[in-house]
Amino acid sequence: MNTPVLVTGGTGTIGRRTVPLLVAAGRTVRVLSRGGRPEDIAPHPHVEYVRADLLADGELDPALIGGAGSALHLAGGPKGDDVATARLVRAAQAAGTVKHLVLVSVVGADAMPLGYFRAKAGAERAVMESGIGWSVLRAAQVNELLLKMVAAMRRMPLVPAPGGLRFQPVDAAAVAARLAELTLADPAGRVPDLAGPGVYTLPELAAAQRVAAGAKPRPALPVRLPGKVGRAYRAGANLTGDDARIAGRDWREFLTA
Ligand SMILES: NC(=O)c1ccc[n+]([C@@H]2O[C@H](COP(=O)([O-])OP(=O)(O)OC[C@H]3O[C@@H](n4cnc5c(N)ncnc54)[C@H](OP(=O)(O)O)[C@@H]3O)[C@@H](O)[C@H]2O)c1
Repeated sequence: MNTPVLVTGGTGTIGRRTVPLLVAAGRTVRVLSRGGRPEDIAPHPHVEYVRADLLADGELDPALIGGAGSALHLAGGPKGDDVATARLVRAAQAAGTVKHLVLVSVVGADAMPLGYFRAKAGAERAVMESGIGWSVLRAAQVNELLLKMVAAMRRMPLVPAPGGLRFQPVDAAAVAARLAELTLADPAGRVPDLAGPGVYTLPELAAAQRVAAGAKPRPALPVRLPGKVGRAYRAGANLTGDDARIAGRDWREFLTA
């Protein structure tokens, strides 16, 4: 079967690593994003780029689904993923061709009392209640994103160390591989969470990055995270459980490479 696959956010960190895997599997891909094809992604005969803002007012034109038989929903940002996902779901329902919706969510989506996580939990509900076959993968933060975060702190004399805050960095390529696998298969429901092999605090991430760059680690400044958010992080609500799938390189291997 070669019905097109719609990939929203196919130009982002995870998406640009997923689209080539779907193409390599023989699929035609329609990438939906606000900006269209970025200059650093070469045109490909089996990849079409369409522009749409999933957070614009009004309904999404069902024609944008482009006859896709499956849709991998990666488009997302700090806010509004529940609204954007519900809008995509309505367009997919109206188009009537989509038989499998795949959503990438975040580890701890239903347990962290923060807007981003709550929106991801809302996005999960929109997909699960769509009446369309679905798969949902919750992933941990990707190495590439954490590297940007740590790099942004490079001029700070002290590294903030919010008590209890830990990460399980995972390679974007490992997330992409799992998402491609899920998209090419039948709807699987909620699958085990995906994370990298290590668990790190922010100062540990920053120190490893400084060492990899040949610099001395900066001292940490302990900060207490107050309230519900602090309690949730200290309880590890953003971390995977024992049934998680561990994949990709460890943070230090990633930095060295
Ligand atoms: N990065 C992580 O650590 C991580 C971890 C777990 C889950 N996730 C989830 O995985 C997904 C992909 O993450 P990523 O790191 O690849 O993100 P990213 O690099 O920021 O890419 C986001 C993608 O979504 C598109 N997009 C953003 N807002 C849009 C909108 N309103 N309408 C249409 N397209 C839009 C962007 O293209 P334009 O800007 O051109 O629109 C881009 O293609 C997100 O949903 C994110 O929440 C990420």
